[in-house]
Order: sequence, then C-alpha cells, then structure tokens
Amino acid sequence: MKMSKDYSQYFDFREAKIIREEDGKTTLRLNGRHIQIQSAPSYKDEKKRGKESVRIHYDNAIPDDMREFGRDKSYFIMTYGCQMNEHDTEVIRGLLEEMGYVQAEERRDADVILLNTCAIRENAEDKVFGELGHLKKLKLEKPGLILGVCGCMSQEAAVVNRLMTRNPHVDLVFGTHNIHRLPHLLREVSFSREMVIEVWSKEGDIIENLPKKREGMRAWVNIMYGCDKFCTYCIVPYTRGKERSRLPEDVLAEVRELARQGYKEITLLGQNVNAYGKDFKDRAYRFADLMDDIRKIDIPRVRFTTSHPRDFDDHLIEVLAKGGNLVEAIHLPFQSGSTEVLKRMSRKYTREQFLELVGKIRSAIPGAVLSSDIIVGFPGETEEQFLETLSLVREAEIAMAYTFIYSPREGTPAFEMEDNVPMAVKQDRLNRLNELIAEMSCESNRQFEGRTVEILVEGQSKSNPNVLSGRTTSNKLVHFEGPKEWIGHLMQVRITKPTTWYLNAEAAEPPRLATALSHGA
Ligand code: 5AD
Ligand code: SF4
Repeated sequence: MKMSKDYSQYFDFREAKIIREEDGKTTLRLNGRHIQIQSAPSYKDEKKRGKESVRIHYDNAIPDDMREFGRDKSYFIMTYGCQMNEHDTEVIRGLLEEMGYVQAEERRDADVILLNTCAIRENAEDKVFGELGHLKKLKLEKPGLILGVCGCMSQEAAVVNRLMTRNPHVDLVFGTHNIHRLPHLLREVSFSREMVIEVWSKEGDIIENLPKKREGMRAWVNIMYGCDKFCTYCIVPYTRGKERSRLPEDVLAEVRELARQGYKEITLLGQNVNAYGKDFKDRAYRFADLMDDIRKIDIPRVRFTTSHPRDFDDHLIEVLAKGGNLVEAIHLPFQSGSTEVLKRMSRKYTREQFLELVGKIRSAIPGAVLSSDIIVGFPGETEEQFLETLSLVREAEIAMAYTFIYSPREGTPAFEMEDNVPMAVKQDRLNRLNELIAEMSCESNRQFEGRTVEILVEGQSKSNPNVLSGRTTSNKLVHFEGPKEWIGHLMQVRITKPTTWYLNAEAAEPPRLATALSHGA
C-alpha cells in the first residue's frame, strides 16, 4: 500500500507496513510497534518563511472532558537547554496540572515522563538518547508509563526517524509549535497505545492564555517566538520557526499580573528579543517601546534574553539608560571576535561595529555588566582569528560568557562547510578562552569589594543551610549567612570577599518581610 502523504522524503520506511490511513493520519507497524503519524517534521518546510500573517488564539481552555483525565496520576519532566525550554516546561506543567496530574518526586513514580529536549549542540542530543536508554528499563517494568519526547529535537526529521526506528519504547513525540495539543495527544496515546507523533513544521500562530506553573519569585515571560536570523551554525530558526511577536497588550497584561502576584523579577524571553515588533504590520512598536512601558510597571527587576548585537538600537540604549527596574546586566552574544569568521557565521556585524555598540552602551549605562556567548573552532577558524576572539573579550570587558566548541548541525549552512579545526585544537582554544573568562569574571567581581548592593534572595546553599544565595541587579551570584525566611525578598548586603565566580557578603540590613509573594507557589 502506498502512503497518501509521502513520508519517504523524511524517513526510510522500507521496513514499515501501513496499517491504516484516516483523517490525515497514517498508522504503520515498525519493529512490532504501531506508530500513528499525525504530522512529522520537515527541514524543507521549517526553512520556509510564510508571508501569511500570524494568527493569535486566545481560546485555549482544556476541554471539560479532559479536566479529570490526570486524576490520581503524576508526571515528571526533564528539561534540557535554554530558558525558552524551561519556560515551555512551565506551560506543559500548567496543562498537565489543569488535567489533574500532580508532579512526581521521582521519575520511577510517574505515570507520564516527558523529556523537553535541546538540539543546539550534538552533546545535548546525546544526553537525551542516553536518558531514553535508561528509561527503557523503567518502561519494561511499568508498561502503562507514557514516555514522551518534545522540544527542539522533536523538530528534527533525523531525530524522529531515530525515535521511531530505534526507540519503540517512546509513546509520544510532539514539537515546539503544538505544545497546546498535549491534552489531546495524551488522550490519543492512552486510548490507542500506539506511538503518536505530531510535530508541526509550520509555525505561524501564537497561542495565548495557556496555563503556566511557575516556581519561585522569578518569572519568565515570552515576548516573541522563533528566529529569522539564520546564523549559519544554528538550528534554532528551523526548530523554533519564524519570528513572531506577542502583542504588547498581552505581554503588558501578563507582566502586570505577575507584579500583582508579587513576583520580584521577570525575564523577557525571545531568541532575538531585539527583533521584537518587526513583524507588526499595524503599528511601529519595537523592543525599546516595550521596555519603556514595562519600566512603568511596579515590578522590581526586569531582565531580557537573548539579544543580537545587530538589532540593538540607540532607542533601546536610551530606554535602558533610564534605569529603574531595568537592570544593568546585558547579555550580548558576539560569538567570534574575527570579522571574517562573523561573516561566515552570517552574523551581519563586524568586530568594529560590535565594539562601537559596546562603547555606546557603556557611555549611556555606566555600570553595565556585559556577558556573552562565544563559539570556538568554527569551520576555518585560524589561530589568529581565535586570538581576535580573546582580544575582543578584553576590549569589550566581557564579565562572563557561555563558551562552546562549534558543533555541526545537520540542515544548517555551516554543516556543508569543512569542519577542519581538529578537536584537540578546539579543546585547547576553549580552555584558553575559559581561562580568560575566569580572569575577567574575577576582575569584574573584585570591583564589588566593600560595596553595599541590593540582592534578590533566591535560595539556600545545598551544602550549608545557613548560607543563602541571591543575585545582584548586575546578575552576580552572592553567598551570605541568613535565615531561610529571607528567601524571595530583596535586601541589602555588603560584599566582603569576591571570588572568581561569586561574591561573599554579609547582610547589611534584613529585608522587609511584609512583601512576600502572594501567588502561593
Ligand atoms: N555549535 C556550538 N554552539 C552553538 N550555539 C548555537 N549553535 C551552536 C553550534 N552549532 C551557541 C551560540 C548561541 C548559544 C545559545 O549556543 O553561542 O548563542
Ligand atoms: Fe541562532 Fe543566530 Fe537566531 Fe541566535 S540569532 S537563535 S544564534 S540563528
């Protein structure tokens, strides 16, 4: 029998036997397992940037007949990767809890286990397949367990192929664009006991009003989805789709509600927050305008991540310079210090333009603390070009950085370039870069010695319950002694002894405890 939808362009299905085709779904048998494909990912479609306008859906209540579905059952989610994934996990938890599920303490107790995955580098993917290997045993012991894979890896055809052909113990695969479909998909898996695959390649829509189960006193707020930058090494534009911004009124309403609930800090999230609003056809409202409006909301701290130097405009610098709840920590990934490498990465700025931007930021925001993301060993990177990366860290006074060895990602333009820097050289460059970052961090931390600064107390130290940790507005980690009642509060501490990665401090003034969270988390 021939499949009405041609999945053969994505998967090698010579081993598979088609069982049925109905309502656009194809069910086949592979290695003794029935697999129901509702839709599968395609790089070809993920590359396309449709002209159709973004539709926003506000009506996403869980169907009434699904509200009891998870009663007496529990879930466990493992989250890999960036804050976007962490926040997606909060949405998934919100959906599951509205269905009656509760969070399990341990994975072996759970009825549903989900792996929210990251595709950015190969080692992130290896971790997930390793974990799936471990979970196979649990699945054998507990056949009723529903094991699901979601997040960025699910958007890759090669991954979905591998799950179908070599991981028949997986029950559910869904992608980053159809998280809201989870209740329906769980029902489908439970009733059919087939492996259900629903991954949408075409994004397009924004789903509002999804439940979110947040934790602690800090909240993430999505302001936009997707990325249109297509840096040549990066898989994100394929796994997260085209850039689309939430309407300002929806973002502002969410932030006001978080303020009302007593959250102390929000982080605005987007793969490239500086592109916020570029897709609006009916208004000229950009990231700087959004920040200016959020500045007026009574929430103590506002962060954002991640920004692209190319779109970081003067208006944004002007707004950030107004301070208030807009903090001075700015994460500004530059990736490489060599204009030549930046060109091959398709970053669309030069070393000089990056330095000019840093200069503008520093003159407008005197206390600015800059952090960055840096890649070493990009195809063709020479020793001289790597040395330019080191010198840019110094010239731009980067206080902290996430550093990575280049990892080829299938489907990206750089994958076609010759990966010609030997692994030993990449490792050596990473080590040298990390040594420099440690030196820069130490130097930046040293400047805090003796200063009294405001911190948000985040939690207790794992090794010593008398020690609390918190963060300054400049995003420095601070350790100091105090009772756990201070957790969740803003307070003043005096920095006694800076170290390379954190600051030791003592309480200067206890917090005003009346301002506790009212959202009950
Ligand atoms: N290899 C290594 N690092 C990568 N990043 C993105 N794609 C790759 C890749 N293929 C890094 C970039 C980005 C961060 C989130 O991950 O530095 O800013
Ligand atoms: Fe990836 Fe570049 Fe988009 Fe960042 S801006 S998500 S590095 S493509």
